Amino acid sequence: MKLPDMNEARLRNNQNIDFLYLDKIEYSGLYNGKKYYLRTYGCQMNVHDSEELKYLVESLGFSETKVMKDADLIILNTCAIRENSHDKVFGFLGRCKHLKEKNKDLIICLAGCMPQERSVIDTILEKYRYIDIVIGTHNKHELRSMLIERKSGLNINVLSNSNEVIENINYKHDSKVTAWVNIMYGCDKFCTYCIVPYTRGKQRSRKHEDILKEIDELIDLGYQEITLLGQNVNAYGKDLEGEIEFSQLLEMVSKTNIPRIRFVTSHPWDFTDEMIEVISKNKNIMPYIHLPVQSGSDRILKLMGRRYTKEKYLELFNKIKMKIPNVSITTDIIVGFPNETDEDFKHTLDIVDECKFDGAYTFIYSPRENTPAAKMEDNISLEVKQERLQQLNEKVNEYSLLNNKKYLDKEIDVLILEVNSKDKTKYMGYTETMKVVNVTGDDIKIGQIIKVLILSAKSFSLDGKKVN
Ligand code: SAH
Ligand code: SF4
Ligand code: F3S
Repeated sequence: MKLPDMNEARLRNNQNIDFLYLDKIEYSGLYNGKKYYLRTYGCQMNVHDSEELKYLVESLGFSETKVMKDADLIILNTCAIRENSHDKVFGFLGRCKHLKEKNKDLIICLAGCMPQERSVIDTILEKYRYIDIVIGTHNKHELRSMLIERKSGLNINVLSNSNEVIENINYKHDSKVTAWVNIMYGCDKFCTYCIVPYTRGKQRSRKHEDILKEIDELIDLGYQEITLLGQNVNAYGKDLEGEIEFSQLLEMVSKTNIPRIRFVTSHPWDFTDEMIEVISKNKNIMPYIHLPVQSGSDRILKLMGRRYTKEKYLELFNKIKMKIPNVSITTDIIVGFPNETDEDFKHTLDIVDECKFDGAYTFIYSPRENTPAAKMEDNISLEVKQERLQQLNEKVNEYSLLNNKKYLDKEIDVLILEVNSKDKTKYMGYTETMKVVNVTGDDIKIGQIIKVLILSAKSFSLDGKKVN
């Protein structure tokens, strides 16, 4: 049994990328009548990967249950980005142990980013031997064959790295209105704090013709919106020599005439003028950009390996704001990076004041195994980190509210996604700028884009009524 090796994962060889076109999956009733329970942690990438895992197990006869104790198969699609993601999963595995004691046939599967870490595998070998299947991010499609040729005991199937782009993946989409479309896998940026380049491997872009084919199929199925996915969407194509770059791909996708196109996540480093141009002139590319800044201090940005300064970020930010009318911009920020002083943190607060982001995901720095930052002393006390986070969140929420209030009394286009989960008399949808709107009114249909009059604004959502 070969175990994942993070040092091997760090090595990026210059071998060409292989495109592996999977065969059509034939339905098998091997697990007819059996139920699976799947829980997803982490980013959109994982949410989308779970759609693939669902398709794979349903092609074997499993049906989904939301009640864990009824399940014959439990899949945890895990995240490794911060230590608390680990804690949640290990806590959950503890609970699964009791179920396994009661039901010897229960299959427990650990998938996603955690199994890519050697220390996680070592912990499993030591303390969680009752898990049945451990599968990594690079070969998750092999879950199906592992379930068909099931061997007793703990089976670990994780690759350290991959040169492959897997095509012909089937998904059981969570929504009939909006769909994720991977345009690339992996990340080559190696920000010093981040584990993603190790858990997801080398950057590998899909061929544009494969991406467009998938989008055409989604359009035929009636999808109204697609979100192009990648850890660095705007680095798309850099690994495909002589191919196209992200702005050109965006333009091609725009020509499909799907009503709404989104993309996450953009790195400031690869954000070109051509991209801004394409977004501003094509109405079906949504004026919403997630542009992680991480810190406002040049010193910390340098330690993080982000390759831009506060000034450069602001220059880009202002250019986007100027050229794309009504654009909304959100960000990610880390507090408590090693050696972050009060002065450094003040720069972060300052950049938030300057940008007045529409929203921000904020995190306390968490040292990750094998990353360069983990070798720096994690020398800020938890108390200080928490204080900074709270101070930052107050500011972030203030600006979210301020931005949302601009929508008051305006009539806005909203794409209706579903019935509101808390209040069944309302619907939930998104503005072009990615604001959640709770909508009331008659004759509202899921999948429609309707005009909504905004009646109230909170930090994280808007309320409105359909305009007839
Ligand atoms: N590819 C995306 C983000 C991926 S991870 C990008 O580059 O923007 C999502 C966010 O998690 C990051 O933007 C960062 O803010 C946060 N994050 C990543 N590693 C972290 C760590 N070790 N501790 C705390 N937050 C982290
Ligand atoms: Fe992580 Fe940086 Fe890659 Fe984003 S760009 S996934 S933060 S290494
Ligand atoms: Fe987490 Fe892996 Fe995504 S570490 S954030 S699930 S790429």
